[in-house]
This record gives sequence, C-alpha cells and structure tokens, in this order.
Amino acid sequence: MEKLDISKRINELSDTIRYHNELYYRDAQPEISDFEYDQLLKELQRLETQYPEFAQTDSPTQRIGNDISNKFETVYHKYPMLSLGNTYSREELSDFYRRVQQGLEGQECEFVCELKYDGVSISLTYENGKLTRAVTRGDGTRGDDVTENVKTIKSIPLVLKGDDYPQNFEMRGEIFMTHKTFEKLNNIRQESGDNLFANPRNATAGSIKMQYSSEVAKRYLDCFLYYILGEELPYDNHFDNLKKAKSWGFKIPEDIIKCKNLDDVFDYINYWDTARKNLDYDIDGIVLKVNNYKQQEQLGYTAKTPRWAISYKFKAEQAVTELLSIDYQVGRTGAITPVANLQPVFLAGTTVKRASLHNAEQIALLDLRIGDKVFVEKGGEIIPKVVGIAVREHKNPPTKFIAHCPECGTELIKNEGEAKHFCPNDNGCPPQIKGKIIHFISRKAMNIESLGEESVELFFNKGLIHNAADLYQLKIEDILPLERFAQKSAENIINSIESSKTVPYPRVLYALGLRYVGETVAKILAKAFPNIDLLINASIEELTEVHEIGERIAESVKEYFSQADIIEFVNKLKEAGLQFKVDREEQKSDILKDMSIVISGVFVHHSRDEYKTIIELHGGKNSSSISKNTSFILAGDNMGPSKKEKAQKLGVELKSEEEFLKMLND
Ligand code: IVH
Repeated sequence: MEKLDISKRINELSDTIRYHNELYYRDAQPEISDFEYDQLLKELQRLETQYPEFAQTDSPTQRIGNDISNKFETVYHKYPMLSLGNTYSREELSDFYRRVQQGLEGQECEFVCELKYDGVSISLTYENGKLTRAVTRGDGTRGDDVTENVKTIKSIPLVLKGDDYPQNFEMRGEIFMTHKTFEKLNNIRQESGDNLFANPRNATAGSIKMQYSSEVAKRYLDCFLYYILGEELPYDNHFDNLKKAKSWGFKIPEDIIKCKNLDDVFDYINYWDTARKNLDYDIDGIVLKVNNYKQQEQLGYTAKTPRWAISYKFKAEQAVTELLSIDYQVGRTGAITPVANLQPVFLAGTTVKRASLHNAEQIALLDLRIGDKVFVEKGGEIIPKVVGIAVREHKNPPTKFIAHCPECGTELIKNEGEAKHFCPNDNGCPPQIKGKIIHFISRKAMNIESLGEESVELFFNKGLIHNAADLYQLKIEDILPLERFAQKSAENIINSIESSKTVPYPRVLYALGLRYVGETVAKILAKAFPNIDLLINASIEELTEVHEIGERIAESVKEYFSQADIIEFVNKLKEAGLQFKVDREEQKSDILKDMSIVISGVFVHHSRDEYKTIIELHGGKNSSSISKNTSFILAGDNMGPSKKEKAQKLGVELKSEEEFLKMLND
C-alpha cells in the first residue's frame, strides 16, 4: 500500500469503528457482528503498529468501549474490570497455552474451561453477606451504579446463605436474557409498535439501564457468576472458590471443567460448538483460565487483559440454502442494498428467508448467481448474510447489478471509493422521501411521537406531504378525512408537530439527515457553526478545521447545502419556526474556548455529568483521556493514581473543584 493509502485507510477504519462504537455502546443497536467488529479493530491495530506515524492520538484502539450513561451515578470499581484477549483461531489458542507454560517455567498448571456468556457483565459487591452494590463494567475503571435494577434479578442473592463467606468480596458475572424471554419481549414490542431488539444481549443491555426498576423486573433477566475477587477467599484457586460460592446461593454455571492439557480444551470446544445450539441462552465462545491464583499473579496482566486467561470465540453459525432471487432496497439516503431471497432454512433458532448481500462488489466477489446453493451466516446479530457459494449445479449467467432505481427508474450512480450504488433522485424517489421524513420525526431527531411510520406513509401517498417541511403546514382538517383518524389523534399529531419547534438546533441539524451526520457529528457542527447560515456558507477548509470533522463529512455538508431545493426546504423550516441557531441563553460564556478538559475523581458541589455540561456551556470540550493537549484536569477526590502519574509526566495542571468554580465566577 502507498503511504497515502495507509493514512487514508487508518482514518477510514477509525471513523467506521467510532460509528459502530456509538451504535453498540450507546444505542445498543449494532449493525455488524462482533466478528466483523473485531476484524476492523485488528486491522486498525496492525496498521497503527506498523505505521505509528499515521495513528490518530484519539484512535478508537486507545479506548475500550464504555457503557456509562447519564441516568446513573458513576462509581469507581475497586478492582478494574478487565476484558479478555480473544481469538477465533485454534493456533492462537495453542500459542496462548504455550505462553502460559513458558511463563510458569515448567510448573504443573491446571486450566479451567468455562462458557463465554453473551450478555452484559456486572460486578456485585457483598458486605457482611448482603448485596450492597451492582456496577456495570463502564470503561473498566468506573461504571454505572445499577444496584436497584440488579436487585430485581431473582438469581442474584440479596442475602447470602451459610456463615463462611468473606466479609467483603466481589462477584462478577454476566446478566443475560433467555431466548424464550427475548421472543416474548419482542412480540410485545412488535404489537405496541416499539423498535425490536436485535438480539438478547441488546435487550439485556437496554433492560439493565432502564429508569424504573419495576420495569426491569418485568424483563425476567438472569445471571451467571464466574469470577470472585477479594482478600479473604477460602481457597487458593478459582475453581474451588466458585464451587464454594454456589453454597452461598450464587448461580454458578454447571458447565465449568478443569483441564490438564490442550486436548481436553479442544474437546470442550468441539462439544460446545454443537451443544450450544440447544441452550436457551447465547454463548459466543469459551473462556480458558489458569486455575491457581499464585500462577495467575505470576503471569500478570497487560494494560487491558489478564495474561492468565483468553477467550476462544465460535465462528457464526452457517446453513446452506438456495438463492432464489435478488431484490434491491432503496434506503433513506438512496443507498441501494441487494437482498437475497432464499429457500427458507432453519438457522440458529429462526427460519431465514432473506439475507443481506451488502453491495455489487460483494456479489461480484462471490460471483453469486441465481440458483446457487449458498452459505448463510448469522453472526449472533440482526440480519443474516450470504458469505459464500456451497455448490453450483446450473448454468445461469453471472448476476448483473441493476442500473436503474427499482422505485423511480433513475439511473444509479456509484462514487469512487464507495461500495454502494445510489439513486441520485433524493427529492423524487418515494422511499427516499418517506425515509427522510421518518428519520426527521424520529425520537432522537424532532421526536414527533404521535406520528408513526405508517402515518407518514399514508400522508405521503395521499399527497398531504412531500417533504418534512410540509408537516408544519398540516391542519386538523387535512387529517380528519383520512380513515383511522379521530379528532383526538389528529389533534395529538398537530400538537406534537407544534412542540417539535422547540427542539434544539443540534437535533434539528441531525433531523435534516445529511449523510455522515449522526447525532454526535451534528452536535459538533452546531457548536462550531452556531447558526445554520454559518454552516451553509462554510468552506471545506473551515469545516475540516473543526476537530473530528474529516473531509468526507465536510464534502457531504458542502454538497448538501449547494442544492437550491435544500436551501428552499431549510427556509421553509425556518419560516415554520424551527431552531436553527444555538440558544445563546444556554451558552454561558466562552471562557473555556479551545480547552480540552479531563474530569477525574469524585465531586462535592456538582455531579460529574453536571460538570461535563458546565464545561460545554462555557465553550470547553470534555475529553476522556489525558494527553499533551489536555488544558487541565478537573480533579475531585480519589483521582486514580495512574491518571495522576500521567498528568505529572505530561505536566498537565490539576484544578480542584473550588478553583474551577472560582475561575468560572471570575
Ligand atoms: S472472566 C479478568 N469468564 O467476557 C477476566 N468473562 O471479553 C474477567 N464473559 O467482560 C472475565 N463469560 O463480560 C469471564 N466465563 C466467563 C465469561 C466472561 C462471558 C464476558 C465478560 C467479560 C468479557 C471479556
């Protein structure tokens, strides 16, 4: 690869991984499988190691994802919650085994094999036999205090049995949802028109972060415990302590075994790779741990993972079936997605009839033809994929990708460097128009709740609306004659359209639906260009000067606002009274302008989240890691020692809470 291409690829990978991080950690709605995500991350890690000169300082490889949300108190873990190194390859597993043996210099070593539960990890603190705290993993150092929600999980003991448990210890494990509960939950959601959860793990993540524990109780979550931490544990090894913990009332998995050699480990893997299909919950691999604590200590830890454990992940489940035909779907942005219609086949718990084919390149690469017997794969997620050809017993010609939009007939375009074909007729192609309106009204955009997808479809088909701006011209009299709408529901729609006029500028910007402008980018743009006219007139250079705005986004913004009908559309929205500038009253000062501030520790006067908002309201930027670009650290009590050390090394100033508040008041 040329140097320029390497730098481009690194930027591209970083952008893509950030995007998927948001979907996974923030929205609990991933679009790609863990496997695909790991491949992206590994490629980025490899390129960064090989070409450190191109690595971004805030590269996504620098941070493990975090699930901290602002509804809960953030608390520090007593022992950091590490992740596990993982592999999909048996050779790498053998390498791990050899490394351990070498590290232990010939000592005899016992391993423990366990299942790798695919849920949400949790750390439970027990004091004097009582559950006192339950914290999510968060960023590994601190997580959300979800104690009240966790208390609703019946398999987690609130009070321990017996009298031989340590006075103070932590139990860690995985909260999960059974397939049965998951299906019931999604059925109910479908009936009430709510978004469906993609898989049990996402449903679990969503449930554990709900606002009311009474609602969590209705999700029937379950929990396996697989790791105990404390200073006064009864045994000197993992296995015996877990068995003991069972007698205190914990749900310890029955499928843990001790292994003496690699053959035992591979037998365990082979068995569970098949047997997992009969479980009523998801596992995505197995975990191999060194049993003895002394040996664990001897092997030690890397920055993020123990050297005494590894996970081996199963490849996604596959099935073989016939490709019957290919449909082409047109999305909100005009992107064309080919979808395979398949001879129905049973795969990982459901019957699969359709699968994604991604794009023209993918079809060409696989040389997929109608009539082929194909491999279909479900990566534990959402939409199954066609990943290869199993058999070809026909003479059908190669698949020709469509040249015209199946919805409006416009000739498709394909931009250089992009994999997807697009229908360029954004303002005349029905699914694009409807898709844009549906995005516009969605919860995180204008939040016009009482108008659902079906109503948008109906209003559009009846000619009442041609774009989102037309919503603001709607009157009750327009809606009433339509079937299904009574006075009350028509009023609700008009009222929620009216209230959307107060939605703040960053969300309005997001609602417009520019390509590559998700919620986070919209916030960044709104901050840098505090009114829409500044943004409309911004040059590519001005746009790319903004931290985190790359060329791809800049070009998308420029292209969007260069269209006369878009300007007309924005003007109509302005006339309707939507917010197209940052509310100045909100912005308190720009005393922290251009400053990058890291918050660390525990505070007295405001919560951490309040401080984050305060920093933004005074023009500053919150950053999660200390670097030479950090302006100062807002340091509360109990700031972590490693952070302190790093700050000292880089000469970054620490400001106390009082100093900081004084600075703002002055
Ligand atoms: S042990 C220091 N055991 O996998 C080791 N983790 O990728 C701590 N997980 O965050 C973890 N099953 O959420 C361990 N039997 C098991 C597990 C398991 C699932 C999850 C856990 C952890 C992640 C690491």
